[in-house]
Amino acid sequence: MQEISWNEAIELGSPYPYALATTLSKDGRANIIGLAWWTIVSWEPKMIVISVGHKRYSHECLEHCGEFVLCLPSEEQKEGAWLCGTKSGREIDKFQEAGFQQIPAKVVAPPIIEGSTVAYECKVTDKVNAGDHTLFIGEVVAIHGTPERARHLYSVHYRRLVSIDFKGNCNFGL
Ligand SMILES: Cc1cc2nc3c(=O)[nH]c(=O)nc-3n(C[C@H](O)[C@H](O)[C@H](O)COP(=O)(O)O)c2cc1C
Repeated sequence: MQEISWNEAIELGSPYPYALATTLSKDGRANIIGLAWWTIVSWEPKMIVISVGHKRYSHECLEHCGEFVLCLPSEEQKEGAWLCGTKSGREIDKFQEAGFQQIPAKVVAPPIIEGSTVAYECKVTDKVNAGDHTLFIGEVVAIHGTPERARHLYSVHYRRLVSIDFKGNCNFGL
């Protein structure tokens, strides 16, 4: 083994499951952020944590609405999913630009992205400051899925996306 840089480690440790979190702004507009830094953290109660940069528009939205829907975008949604990780909701309407349909969530106010492989509705129960990000810890209050769209997206560093399904079938040509 050899000592490597932070950037090399992130590249070498790829791919990471890439998710989209929907939130609502103060004026009730839905926004979406692309996230590699998220994970399931508790089985019972079911909990998920997302790490959101202090400067992101989504940070402002999360502070305001206290709820999010964490969606695992399917391979079919790759272009829109990439846009959500590279453009800010301060400048554009990401639902419109990505061509995503909103469907009402069962419990929380932010919408579900239609066609996601999996979508977890979450209510923020705790927040932890972590360097230049905040960890928003959410309790899962409802879960949805699209079994016919099993192949979902993973990020390689912050450069590109690949897709893999739960059986390990991969597609690297995205
Ligand atoms: C592959 C990938 C992974 C990302 N992961 C995160 C993340 O975990 N946390 C975060 O705050 N931003 C992450 N970003 C950056 C945000 O998605 C990006 O800054 C986005 O434009 C923020 O949108 P907003 O300003 O509408 O909130 C990631 C971007 C990409 C392309």
